[in-house]
Amino acid sequence: MRLSVVGCGYVGLVTGACLAEAGHEVICTDIDAGRIAQLRAGQVPIYEEHLDRILASAGKAGSISYTADAGEAIRFGDAIFICVGTPPRSDGSADLSAIDHVAQQIAAEARSPKLVVEKSTVPARTGLELQRALSAYSRGNGGFRVASNPEFLREGTAVEDFFHPDRIVVGVEDLAAAEQLREIYRPILERRFECPVHKTCPDSQRAEFLVTTISSAEIIKHASNSFLALKISYANALSDLCEKLGANVEEVTHAMGLDPRIGTQFLRAGLGFGGFCFPKDIQAFISLASTVGVDFEILKAAERVNKQRIDRFLEKISKALWVVKGKRLAVLGLAFKANTDDIRFAPALEVVRRLLEEGAEVHACDPEALEKAKKQFPQASFHQDPYEAFEGAHAALVCTEWSVYKNLDWERAGRVMARKLVIDGRNLYSPAKMKQLGFEYVSFGRE
Ligand code: UGA
Repeated sequence: MRLSVVGCGYVGLVTGACLAEAGHEVICTDIDAGRIAQLRAGQVPIYEEHLDRILASAGKAGSISYTADAGEAIRFGDAIFICVGTPPRSDGSADLSAIDHVAQQIAAEARSPKLVVEKSTVPARTGLELQRALSAYSRGNGGFRVASNPEFLREGTAVEDFFHPDRIVVGVEDLAAAEQLREIYRPILERRFECPVHKTCPDSQRAEFLVTTISSAEIIKHASNSFLALKISYANALSDLCEKLGANVEEVTHAMGLDPRIGTQFLRAGLGFGGFCFPKDIQAFISLASTVGVDFEILKAAERVNKQRIDRFLEKISKALWVVKGKRLAVLGLAFKANTDDIRFAPALEVVRRLLEEGAEVHACDPEALEKAKKQFPQASFHQDPYEAFEGAHAALVCTEWSVYKNLDWERAGRVMARKLVIDGRNLYSPAKMKQLGFEYVSFGRE
């Protein structure tokens, strides 16, 4: 099928690339002409595992192309995926102006009936507004059907998640739209693709194809992200309690998680959640609920617990160092989580900002996010190699759970540090092992 993707951010690029790899003809467009020029030149503007390879192979096969001309992209596809940003406004609600803009472009440029699919994360009822905008601006020449098809991709494993989803949700107003979307996802549903991730794909369950109303699909996305955020905050509140009562949060969450009704995932205590999804989605969900008179108190608490994680971390740092001013600190990890270069709402950035404010000398490292972080903190020093950051450091602070940091040679690090102190915001190491290596070691919920 011929498909158009509007917006070449994380969601748009992964969606476009994977749909092309699955056998469709895809054209991508973006308001940022520089980004389109980069893509045309074979460069990938974001770091996402496997994406460069898929874009290269789809480009070579001629199944993906890029244009800065939105009209050309809109006329090309039978279905148009809207993947533009919906950033938070100052009151927490989602800014939908980019979606409105695309709706006007589609209405003006389309010359044949289109299935318009909203893939950006949007509050409930956006689909209905989108439908209204399309008919209002098209002056009757449209023939548009609207669907909501939320994505559940995690940054860092987005390509794998795309090819091996646990569910594909399509919110539609009529069954023809559902059938068109089933056709688009048929290669994924029937596993008829060459997997770019595995040699032999894991024998996991096949994805469920769920057809819902548009509003339900929109809420499913917000409800899923908010629930995961809630789980993380629950684990973090537990971790504070475990510290006070002398228990070990990992023993507790592991045992809890073995109950299949709870599950072991997203119960890792530490510095809390960041990124461009959870913090903004939870806020948007709270804000959406309040507009219809529902006080989503439980989510407000989850948000509050998460914000306090940074305070807890800074308290641990102050307690261990006594005076923070003038201390040389090695910060391990800047990205909001491992395997991404994304630093948006990364807990590490807030940690660095506060340490600099207190007069510490920050030496930060990250395998992928250095370039982005450098622009924000001209006063800090940046190193690709963590062992450079350890030179003369009074403490090492773990902020992101990169596997290279999990496997550091602490004996080597200890030889060059001024003080053998590790304050671990991601519980990467065994306290007993660190003690054995002669380190003072502070982590979350395991004191
Ligand atoms: C999240 C969801 O997991 C995806 O399903 C969703 O599609 C995506 O948002 C989105 O809305 O686009 P993502 O933001 O990429 O994906 O990251 P996650 O892997 O979910 O992690 C989010 C944050 O939670 C990270 O900062 C991570 O370090 C933190 N986290 C995660 C914890 O602190 N503890 C945990 O146990 C798990």
